[in-house]
Amino acid sequence: MIEGIRVEPVGPLSGAINLVGAKNAILVTMAATLLTSGKSVITNVPVSSDVLYMIKLLESLGAQIAFDRELKKLEIDTSAIVGHQVDPEIMRKMRASILVVGPLLARFGCADVVFPGGCTIGARPVDIHLKAFKTMGVDFHSIDEVLQARTPALRAQRIVLEYPSVGATENILMAATLTPGTTTIVHAALEPEVLDVIRVLKKMGAQIDIEPPATIVINGVSVLNPVVHEVIVDRLEAGSLLLATALTGGELVIPNARAFDLDVFLAKLQEMGHTIETGAQGIGIRLIATKRPHAVSFKTGPYPGFPTDLQAPMVVAQCLASGVCDVYETVFENRFLHVRELQKMGAQIKFIFGDKIQVKGVEALYGTHVIASDIRASCALVLAGLVAQGKTVMTGVHHWRRGYDMLDQKLAWLGARIVIGPVEQLSFTSKEREIMI
Ligand code: UD1
Repeated sequence: MIEGIRVEPVGPLSGAINLVGAKNAILVTMAATLLTSGKSVITNVPVSSDVLYMIKLLESLGAQIAFDRELKKLEIDTSAIVGHQVDPEIMRKMRASILVVGPLLARFGCADVVFPGGCTIGARPVDIHLKAFKTMGVDFHSIDEVLQARTPALRAQRIVLEYPSVGATENILMAATLTPGTTTIVHAALEPEVLDVIRVLKKMGAQIDIEPPATIVINGVSVLNPVVHEVIVDRLEAGSLLLATALTGGELVIPNARAFDLDVFLAKLQEMGHTIETGAQGIGIRLIATKRPHAVSFKTGPYPGFPTDLQAPMVVAQCLASGVCDVYETVFENRFLHVRELQKMGAQIKFIFGDKIQVKGVEALYGTHVIASDIRASCALVLAGLVAQGKTVMTGVHHWRRGYDMLDQKLAWLGARIVIGPVEQLSFTSKEREIMI
């Protein structure tokens, strides 16, 4: 059975909605529980397939896990961790599996993994992770496809990252918390999700300081304790809901959104002509959409730059804005796969270089069959479907399920007409269905 999402235009979305916890924070928080022995309780956990993969991964290492999906509460008991070998099947499904290497090395001095491999948005190597671990005294041996990491004892070092990789920063940070001495990560990633895991680690008893401009200093401790933690809200879900509202000309309030985590993105929405209001201390965002948005150029970059994960849905907003704009993708080398699908819907987008496209606003997009190639592309295509004339059916729904918890239902609460189901039941003509299957 091939699943699809069907979206039909209904006009302005409006209402108020709260955000769930961030996928990019919960995965690393789950990995961090391996640093402790005992039961941690994590709340505001999104029910996405990446979270379910991470549960399987931790269980395969010996963790006892209870996940209450209704309460979005996860209990992870790491008292009986027995293994250090990460299941290759799970590892291949989710790149974030690499995040257990740091905690396993810190606790047991060994970890066996397979390379998470490339993916559709780019090669995504893990060389920065491995180089840092080597500096900390880890030896790596490859046997067939398994990479064995071994160290008699991790050594605290000054580690200078050539690029502020989110995953590498998190991995080194977790390893350093149980490494005697002072580890310094220079040119570290400081995304809100990295700061959230720093909060988790500090609650566990880790000693961590952040020094300007982007240095993390970790003084190793001998033991960390289980935690109770509420995951930071998902700024990418916030961005997606705001763009859906902006595109449809509606009005939205997100009471628990953190505006300061989205400054550049919100500034770009304002530049397009949308009204943005934020609550006290930056908590809560209201968007009132303009009916005549202008195209704005933007460039993705590490935090606090424009988030690469919002590039694809932001491109959709440019497709229907007046004027021409340039979009630069500096984080991933192949993150324009949604462009071809948007072109099928009538978007006027030109490739300028590998990392740059030019978007010319058009009067209308047209619904058709589109294929999602990664998580954020799936969001972009669903958003395009909200304003495209006719029906849009998107396949590649597993990408959507990996990244979002009930985003389709949230859009429906705001007024969208959106259904997930077997493609053959999404009421296209038999000829259209043939093309899809
Ligand atoms: C995390 C997020 C992802 C987001 C990305 C950038 C999670 C689970 N995922 O991914 O949603 O898009 O940050 O904000 O948190 N790189 C190397 N060598 C390395 C590591 C990274 O060359 O060892 C490159 C990558 O190929 C990519 C760039 O650095 O081009 C950014 O990657 P990174 O910041 O590591 O992203 P992830 O942690 O994988």
